[in-house]
Amino acid sequence: MSSQAEFSLPPPAPDAAAHSHELAERIANAIAEEGGWIAFSRFMEHALYAPGFGYYAAGSRKIGAEGDFVTAPEISPMFARCLAMQARQVLERTGGDVLELGPGTGILAADLFSELKAHGAAPARYRLLEVSPELRERQRALIAERHPGDAGRFEWIDRLPERIDGVVIANEVLDVLPCALVHRSGGVVLERGVVVTEAGFGWEDTAIPDGELKRRANAVIPPGDYDYLTEVNLAAEALVRSVAAALGRGLALFIDYGFAQNEYYHPQRSMGTLRCHYRHRFHNDPFFLPGLQDITAHVDFTAMARAAESAGAEVMGYTTQAHFLISCGLAVLVSGGDPNMTLSRLKATSAVHRLINPSEMGELFKVLGIGRGLDSPLLGFQSARPLTL
Ligand SMILES: C[S@@+](CC[C@H](N)C(=O)[O-])C[C@H]1O[C@@H](n2cnc3c(N)ncnc32)[C@H](O)[C@@H]1O
Repeated sequence: MSSQAEFSLPPPAPDAAAHSHELAERIANAIAEEGGWIAFSRFMEHALYAPGFGYYAAGSRKIGAEGDFVTAPEISPMFARCLAMQARQVLERTGGDVLELGPGTGILAADLFSELKAHGAAPARYRLLEVSPELRERQRALIAERHPGDAGRFEWIDRLPERIDGVVIANEVLDVLPCALVHRSGGVVLERGVVVTEAGFGWEDTAIPDGELKRRANAVIPPGDYDYLTEVNLAAEALVRSVAAALGRGLALFIDYGFAQNEYYHPQRSMGTLRCHYRHRFHNDPFFLPGLQDITAHVDFTAMARAAESAGAEVMGYTTQAHFLISCGLAVLVSGGDPNMTLSRLKATSAVHRLINPSEMGELFKVLGIGRGLDSPLLGFQSARPLTL
């Protein structure tokens, strides 16, 4: 996800402001019904997914120039072309289909299918699992326009299939799943939640009941007695575990911004990674205009890998987006264009630069490959600098 740091946040149109106000009222009612406090993960769930009102459940334009952020497949088709190289290798070994989780505008699906088809490797089915009605409609329209003859091969599904063979792709999906906020304050580890104050939503920390969240919070927060705020995302782990459990023969690629645990829960990262995206600005106030902004947290890739392994899958690789794309043949794909088309070549090159530049998406974004029934090495990870999980 790419957007600029906060300078000033543009005001919403009156109907959008009314929509946000209505959602805020509903969340306030939910807080009252639950005794005056809800966990931050519940707040994030309401703000992003409340039926008809949440950011991903309602109609506003999210992705692209008129939305709130752009993602790698929107920046350059080279992203999809590289993923197609990896997908081809796996589909040749395993057969099966492609399943994309959270396909956004559908651009990755359209470009990936084109590339596979160009190599005679189009899957019989390309399944899309999308929770946002607005994005589903955009995906359907784009696929109808780009692949009219193959539209029947695209299938929208509401839940994970019981068995998945082939390739699963989730680009920037784990970061939008509701996370818990945990806070060591005054030497005690608490869960951060949301209350209603006279000034609007506010923070309140409370004791964590015995259970998985408490165990994990105590395990990840670095030793010491200084204040430390961070996230634990059990919902993201549950999604990875479900994909891993359903994987028959195949590879699932989770691409997102994040780190392994030693870097995620670094003593100096004491304010966490929560980040909100609104009209190409980012800031860290999740209470700003509920329903009109995206709320995200970086991904703890160590936890995702362990979740996959607990479901019997294997970690096939973990590396940076830059190394993955380059290992998939990015340089060859870019230089393979017509050398006389200097302008489009240049444009392609500057977009590609955003994907792999260490100060943009290249280093912060990682690719985690989990698989079952597959031999190493896989294209995207073979010459890649391996990272430790
Ligand atoms: C940040 S957008 C990324 C979109 C797209 N993958 C891209 O790279 O442009 C997050 C996507 O995940 C979808 N999403 C959110 N929660 C989901 C869930 N539990 N299962 C599947 N998709 C989900 C959103 O509706 C949206 O399409």
